[in-house]
Amino acid sequence: MTKDYCGIEHDKNPEGVKATDKFARRINYLRVSVTDRCNLRCFYCMPENGICQLNHKQILRYEELLRVIRISSENGIDKVRITGGEPLVRKGIIDFIKDVAKIKAINDLTLTTNGIMLADMAKDIFDAGLKRLNISIDSLKERTYSKITRSGYLKKVLAGLQKAYEVGFHPIKINVVVIRGLNDDEVTDFAKMTQERPYCVRFIEYMPIGDKNNWDKKLFVPSLEIRSKINRYKQLEPVTKTDKSSPSSDYKFAGAPGTVGFISPLSKHFCLMCNRLRLTADGKLRSCLFSENEVDIKDALRSGKDDEHISKIILDSISGKPEGHEKLSESANKKRSMYSIGG
Ligand code: 5AD
Ligand code: SF4
Repeated sequence: MTKDYCGIEHDKNPEGVKATDKFARRINYLRVSVTDRCNLRCFYCMPENGICQLNHKQILRYEELLRVIRISSENGIDKVRITGGEPLVRKGIIDFIKDVAKIKAINDLTLTTNGIMLADMAKDIFDAGLKRLNISIDSLKERTYSKITRSGYLKKVLAGLQKAYEVGFHPIKINVVVIRGLNDDEVTDFAKMTQERPYCVRFIEYMPIGDKNNWDKKLFVPSLEIRSKINRYKQLEPVTKTDKSSPSSDYKFAGAPGTVGFISPLSKHFCLMCNRLRLTADGKLRSCLFSENEVDIKDALRSGKDDEHISKIILDSISGKPEGHEKLSESANKKRSMYSIGG
């Protein structure tokens, strides 16, 4: 058992099963997208109108998702993140969380949400057995928030964050995608939140993912610039990394209960330590966010294949994991945006 800086205990790989890729990386983290639908339209993720959404038949049923998670867990996966789209918009999500929480080998279960429905759902999610949350909040100003999300109300998200805190989620990670000219003037305000509460605020570099995400080099803010800005307010001190596969470089203000992290997919590659595999809502396994390689698992699930066969597909996908992504360019991963890969 090891404890990370947030006080979370990790009992990695209790059965000693290991799925490793060709580069000897141990793959133990599955991100499961339960829907491509979302109740927001963040300008960097979704087009404003006319998204081609998956229909019910294309989406994996909960039993199918659970089967893939269970079989993955028999192959060394011990951490699961539920993502979307927005996972909380899918009907039946609470029962699904309960079922995932029951899988013995999964000792770390988390969820990424935009927080819009959290005020109403936080308690049920917590009671279902999920204790860690990532909430995406890109601005603390109502107008900027609405501009970025094209439809969201900041008040709702902040009410959701408050509820999640009261219910006892820990840690609560707040994801902020930093965009020049839009929210880069707010980074210090976000960092200050960690002086009041044990939040992990994490700044994410804006990535050129998807076809219609408006990525433009001029809007990109490197992590170093964000950190320098915050240091001008108060010096951040590095936090020793306990989870080596975490893409975030973490810091804190002296005496603060929370931490400030930087996720730098563009300025600092973290592929060497990557431990992730993704399952998309339409039943494809993707071993790298930045690669368009995907392996279909839905057909096998729906044509009565046994566990051994499913297991082989999972292990094949893992062994096909590329070593890393090349320097990202505007052409990186054009086919799918985050809402259809799973953030
Ligand atoms: N660049 C960086 N982060 C992104 N996200 C979605 N699209 C992008 C992008 N192009 C983030 C969301 C959320 C997480 C799931 O992924 O803001 O925090
Ligand atoms: Fe929805 Fe998240 Fe995409 Fe925003 S970034 S549109 S909240 S899936």
